[in-house]
Amino acid sequence: MNEIKLFCTATIANISCGFDVLGLALDNVGDEMVVRKVAKKGVTITKIVGQDLPLETHKNVAGVAALALLSKVDTEFGFEIEIYKNIKPGSGIGSSAASSAGAVYGINELLGKPFSNHDLIEFAMQGERLASGVAHADNVAPALLGGFTLVRSTDPLEVIKIAPPSEMYATVIHPQIEVKTSDAREILKNTIPLKTAIAQWGNLGALISGLYTEDYELIGRSLEDKIVEPIRSILIPAFDAVKEVSIEAGALGAGISGSGPSIFALSKGIETAQKVGEAMKNVYQKVGIDYDVHISKINNEGIKIMDN
Ligand code: HSE
Repeated sequence: MNEIKLFCTATIANISCGFDVLGLALDNVGDEMVVRKVAKKGVTITKIVGQDLPLETHKNVAGVAALALLSKVDTEFGFEIEIYKNIKPGSGIGSSAASSAGAVYGINELLGKPFSNHDLIEFAMQGERLASGVAHADNVAPALLGGFTLVRSTDPLEVIKIAPPSEMYATVIHPQIEVKTSDAREILKNTIPLKTAIAQWGNLGALISGLYTEDYELIGRSLEDKIVEPIRSILIPAFDAVKEVSIEAGALGAGISGSGPSIFALSKGIETAQKVGEAMKNVYQKVGIDYDVHISKINNEGIKIMDN
């Protein structure tokens, strides 16, 4: 095999109470990528369609992630990458992670899989470092493993995958503004009161328990963020209204997707997820903000190999 075509899934990071440690993979939103084995050594980004992003390998998240992988193997050949971007950078659904994870996944396949998907997370994190200044794993982990992922530790890396509850759907609305992850990180405080930490780890532990036991009510009660959402939500137009109508429409809970501005809601069943989408749209229609809405089941496999 000399060429592979991939669907590189969008992801929701943080999921309210799990800042930098929790993420999930979406099923029907993502980029496409072609990775090709070529005689010329190194990594060349030959094409980016859909977004204006740097082609230079060292300035592109896919290029940087690919080089991190290639620094660990001896090869007599190189790789070309074509990226077809559907996920807008700065949207909060893992645009840089889709590219970083896709590049390392594709190269690993063409090399005959010397690395596990868990191993690939560390390489893909280097793309995230370029994008936001921090090598966080909460988008690249679900992109590579699928389902929900919990990053217990980044040094040494240990990520636990949790299969999604069978009736779980995500609704995501993206108001058409851009929020850079680096900016959204800069405004966060470096310390939190013990009382706030206690509330947050109570919710995080309960959310994980709810996912394993498919206890949707417990999941709903646990989708609460005492630390990041109060600060970042000021960057997102009508955040409180969108969250409120989502819960009124039946969502288990709602919050900021990654570093925003997208807002996500989780629901039991596709009908509720669709109702939530309609309620979210109404809010932005009233305030006159353009948006994209995605309704997706949780993708339990992560990046998918497409037929050529
Ligand atoms: N955990 C990261 C953040 C995710 O919230 O900054 C960015 O998508």
